[in-house]
Amino acid sequence: MSPATPDAVPDRQRQVEDDLVRTVLASFDDADDPRLKELMQSLVRHLHAFIREVRLTETEWQQAIDFLTAAGHITTDRRQEFVLLSDVLGASMQTINVNNAAGEGATEATVVGPFFVDGSPEIPLGGDLAAGAPGEPCWVEGTVTDTKGNPVRGARLEVWEADDDGFYDVQYDEERVAGRAHLFTDDQGAYAFWGLTPTPYPIPHDGPVGKLLDRTGRSPLRAPHLHFMATASGLRTLITHIFVEGDELLARDAVFGVKESLIKNFTRHKAGTPTPDGRAWPEHTWSRVRFDIVLQQA
Ligand code: BEZ
Ligand code: FE
Repeated sequence: MSPATPDAVPDRQRQVEDDLVRTVLASFDDADDPRLKELMQSLVRHLHAFIREVRLTETEWQQAIDFLTAAGHITTDRRQEFVLLSDVLGASMQTINVNNAAGEGATEATVVGPFFVDGSPEIPLGGDLAAGAPGEPCWVEGTVTDTKGNPVRGARLEVWEADDDGFYDVQYDEERVAGRAHLFTDDQGAYAFWGLTPTPYPIPHDGPVGKLLDRTGRSPLRAPHLHFMATASGLRTLITHIFVEGDELLARDAVFGVKESLIKNFTRHKAGTPTPDGRAWPEHTWSRVRFDIVLQQA
């Protein structure tokens, strides 16, 4: 039997459902913390509206509970299925949008993802963050400035990325540190380093979130990207990525992380083309990208 549509709900029944919403809302009236009260009452309003709009069946409600239970069971110190769920629902990105209004030409933020780890090695300007991770070398350069255009000297840049096989170092069994590092801008606010040309990879999809994507015909693939976290004193910390211009996944990133302003031109160079730091690589191609970062006042 298909559930009744909201329009078909008789007046008496509608009254019963309205009464319950009112009673549940009132149960939070005496909360000491006004923000918590606002959050819980709004959540109750939206949740009940959802249940009533779709005329949620008891079987569907049980399936939702089972889904959340499975998400809890697969979550560990190294695997966060609830963050993944928030990501694929666009909730992570919407929270970032709400809290990071891009003002005065500041660089836009995007999702942090699950693969940032503290304690990356420091590399010098022009150094190599790949540290043996497989992939095509990519020369990454740019500046860090504030919104008035003043260079930010000594800004700390944390950079991390997947290798050519689509894995971050922490996804390998053995302890390896590759494809991640931090460095500091020079007196002119400039930086440069060797990384890898980003390639596509799937978000972890062997759990309940992966099953959900599968059942809804969605791909787990992320558009190729390079993660950055920029911190400097007196300025707002920025967590973002840059994406590869022209990539076919830009329009269907699994976590909705792509923003137009973060799509960059990665120019490809033939084997043997001299590199910006004067290397000669007769045997392999390389790419080059510029990313100028603008940080807002804290
Ligand atoms: C990532 O960029 O690595 C990522 C972001 C969100 C969910 C999963 C992976
Ligand atoms: Fe990533």
